[in-house]
Amino acid sequence: MTAPWRRAFEPLPREHGFEPLSLEGTLPADLRGTLYRVGPGAFTAGGEPFGHWFDGDGAVTAVRLAGGKAEGACRFVDSRERAVEQRLGQRAFRGFGTPARHPAATRVKQPVNVGAMRWNGGLYALGEGARPHALEERTLRTIGESDLGGALQSAFAAHPHRVEARRASYNFGVRHGRTLSLDVLELPDAGPARLLCTVPLPSPRYLHDFAVTERRAVFALPPLEADVEELLGGTGPVASAYRWRPELATEILTVELDPPHRTWRAEADPFFAWHLAAAAELGDQALAVELVRYPDFASNAWYAALPFREPAHAPPGELVRLTLAGPPGARPVVESLAGASCELPVAAGEAILAVAHSSRAAPGAPHDALVAADRRGHGERWWSLGPDRFPSGEPCAAGAHHLLSLAYDARAHRSGLLVMDLRDPDAGVVGAAWFDHHVPPPFHGVWAPLD
Ligand SMILES: [Fe+2]
Repeated sequence: MTAPWRRAFEPLPREHGFEPLSLEGTLPADLRGTLYRVGPGAFTAGGEPFGHWFDGDGAVTAVRLAGGKAEGACRFVDSRERAVEQRLGQRAFRGFGTPARHPAATRVKQPVNVGAMRWNGGLYALGEGARPHALEERTLRTIGESDLGGALQSAFAAHPHRVEARRASYNFGVRHGRTLSLDVLELPDAGPARLLCTVPLPSPRYLHDFAVTERRAVFALPPLEADVEELLGGTGPVASAYRWRPELATEILTVELDPPHRTWRAEADPFFAWHLAAAAELGDQALAVELVRYPDFASNAWYAALPFREPAHAPPGELVRLTLAGPPGARPVVESLAGASCELPVAAGEAILAVAHSSRAAPGAPHDALVAADRRGHGERWWSLGPDRFPSGEPCAAGAHHLLSLAYDARAHRSGLLVMDLRDPDAGVVGAAWFDHHVPPPFHGVWAPLD
């Protein structure tokens, strides 16, 4: 029997602008704003499957809430590479988990399928290695690629993070070549974006996310190193050019945001992390970093499989806090913050919100619940979404005490926005707004409150 969640990975069936969603329960009247989420919306080109969830064409979903009502819109990000494959009616590129179709066609596709950003009055869809794509907020139609006013010299990662104290957001871009380097970028709330500095890395390691304090950008570089020849000139999937090297450490690299942008490095026992939730200064060079840790890169195979078959086992993502406060050379102290397998961590005050596997989750199934882990280690709270309902993408804290999540309802084969109360997990879902179709699960995005 097909697992109930499998149909969530059917392609987005319909693109449309904002239209009324059907309501269930009560949407809080004081909840006013738009939730944007971006994720892979189609998993084939010309009927030919990609080799990985992360290679799917990006789609943006928006749910606008005001006055207890909801409207929703969904559209593919109209990237040039998607247009090429649509025109050819076949797969044309190599991907993260997809081999080249032809030995002479080794160009790597950079789908715009990971996150969204609102900055300086604009809305952007973001990918792992692509330029940001500007979107029309009113219709979600793609305007085109942006270099953020000339600030971008390289790609722009999909996880910008805002620092309230600096009235700016920060992000990084990876420059792939014979050597790997990181561009650190600043996007002030008002004013032009700028490249702060470029930091060379000693080896070509995979990097997906970062965290930022009021003083430093923080990177966790796993011992997942690329064979550069294979990465740049190979015909196999990009991910297969990376080798897990457990004999090496995971390197914690920090880069100061102010000139002269001094760097500082520390080593941790080897682990892999897709996502960092947050980092905090503890005085002097001491630092705390919260992230979801894996023992190795095996989680990649689970993600690769999800749209195409039922994987045997979901990977154990452990939400941990690393404290780097010891003498030079000391490895960080690691504390577990949640008792269940988590992903897509988001810091919200004293809690870290994440999607999680409940005790009822089938072995290979996606996360089926939401969790709020106390950052001081005082346990966790759980939200069940209801039978055969799965969170879609990272959770979001909004307004004074609301918890928002897109979700897939397998029984009705439709997706919607669920509203819960951050103070009261037992109240469950207090309100929901449903599309009349499903939306393939996205990853990240942004909540834009309406003033
Ligand atoms: Fe991500």
